[in-house]
Amino acid sequence: MHKDVKKVLVSEEEIVKRCEELAKEIKKDYESKNEIPLLVGLLKGSVPFLAELVKHIDMDIKYEFMDVSSYEGTESIGDVKVNLDLRSSVKGIPVLLVEDIIDTGRTLQEVKRLLSHKGASDVKVVSLLDKPSRRVVDIQADYVGFEVPNEFVIGFGLDFNQKYRNLPYVGVLKDECYQ
Ligand code: XMP
Ligand code: MG
Repeated sequence: MHKDVKKVLVSEEEIVKRCEELAKEIKKDYESKNEIPLLVGLLKGSVPFLAELVKHIDMDIKYEFMDVSSYEGTESIGDVKVNLDLRSSVKGIPVLLVEDIIDTGRTLQEVKRLLSHKGASDVKVVSLLDKPSRRVVDIQADYVGFEVPNEFVIGFGLDFNQKYRNLPYVGVLKDECYQ
C-alpha cells in the first residue's frame, strides 16, 4: 500500500470483478434495444475505469473523451467548463458517459444536458463510484460500481492535486497529506 494511504476502500480485485459484471449488464441492456453505445469518458478521472470496463464489454463499441472541469482541490464548484470537446458528432447516437465518481451530481447534470443538446439519441451513465450523501441535484447513474461514504477518495483515476491517480485501488489519504 502507498505510504500516504490510510485505508483501502475498494481493492483492485473487487474493481475488476465489478467491471466484468457491469460490462455484462451494459451489453445485455444495449443488445436488447439493438444499439451499440458510444462510450464517452470524462478526463482524467475515468481513464483507468474506462480501460478496465471496455476490456469486458463484448460488443463493437467505440470510445471518446471529453474534459470538463468543476473541481479544484477538494471542493466542488457550480458550473462546468468544457476544456476538450468531442471530435465527432453524437447526433442520433446513444451515449454512455463514463465517470469516476458522482458527488454533488452537478458535472453529470451539465454534461448530460450538453450531450442531449448535441443530439445524442440517449445519454446513460456508468460511474465507478457514487457518493449519494453529497448529492445536491436529483440525478443518478444508470450503472454504479460501488457506493462510497462521504470521504474524499483517491486512486484508480481519482486524484488529490493530480496525484494518486495511478494507484490500482480506491482509498482514503492520511490526514497529514491534506496539510
Ligand atoms: P460533482 O460534484 O459535479 O463532481 O458530482 C464530480 C467530480 O468531482 C470530482 N470528485 C472527486 N475527486 N475524490 C476525487 O479525487 C473525491 O472524493 C471526489 N469527489 C468528487 C471528480 O472529478 C468527479 O468527476
Ligand atoms: Mg471527474
